[in-house]
Amino acid sequence: MKERKEEIIKAYQFREATKEFLEDKKISDDDFEFILETGRLSPSSFGWEPWQFLVVQNMEIREKLREFSWGAQKQLPTASHFVVILGRKAKEMIPGSDYFKYIAKEVNKLPEDITKMREDVFGKFQNEDFDLTDDRKIFDWVGKQTYLPFANMMTAAAQIGVDSCPIEGFDREKIEAILREEGVLDTDKFGVTAMVAFGYKKANLDWSKTRRDTSEVVKWVR
Ligand SMILES: Cc1cc2nc3c(=O)[nH]c(=O)nc-3n(C[C@H](O)[C@H](O)[C@H](O)COP(=O)(O)O)c2cc1C
Repeated sequence: MKERKEEIIKAYQFREATKEFLEDKKISDDDFEFILETGRLSPSSFGWEPWQFLVVQNMEIREKLREFSWGAQKQLPTASHFVVILGRKAKEMIPGSDYFKYIAKEVNKLPEDITKMREDVFGKFQNEDFDLTDDRKIFDWVGKQTYLPFANMMTAAAQIGVDSCPIEGFDREKIEAILREEGVLDTDKFGVTAMVAFGYKKANLDWSKTRRDTSEVVKWVR
């Protein structure tokens, strides 16, 4: 167990926000499927899985995205795999929506009475507990859910020696418009929450990982 823990921490140390990848070194299908699988298996509030991973391998589309992605200038043209993370729009994330019905019936295989109970509890959570009372608030909450597979995929990648870069440096409206025009994004159903590039780094960053001290990050309540 000690060795396993050391190995996992090593992966966390290894992961760095990679700015540029080796263009000719591609992630194998098997490795990339493994990375995606850790995203798919990630948890979500109420189990709604309000995400989709758009793997953009078309270099012309990547080049179009690059114009409005200041944080991915070198990552977009060089990444082996480039993923745009999508979150469900607010109108799909309310009790009674077709999406909720689909999840309950086809994915969770729940009986109708349990489905109704879950939706009632969710309605209260949405309106009273978490104040998810307008489209923006709901989409931001969805965005938080999507950051779980987003992070898990990067950590899983690091554990098999694959580099990555999380990316928020882009103009969301412009990126969504491009993907809509390209016919790969239904903006009635989804919005872009983040992006992540995967590949093998060209060079180590010329700075080392810095983090606040544990005593500052963690406060125990005993
Ligand atoms: C949500 C999020 C968005 C980020 N956006 C960008 C980005 O657009 N471009 C970039 O080069 N790095 C981006 N980063 C990388 C951070 O700057 C980096 O994770 C942080 O400085 C810590 O460095 P490390 O990841 O190498 O340990 C982002 C990180 C996160 C978590």
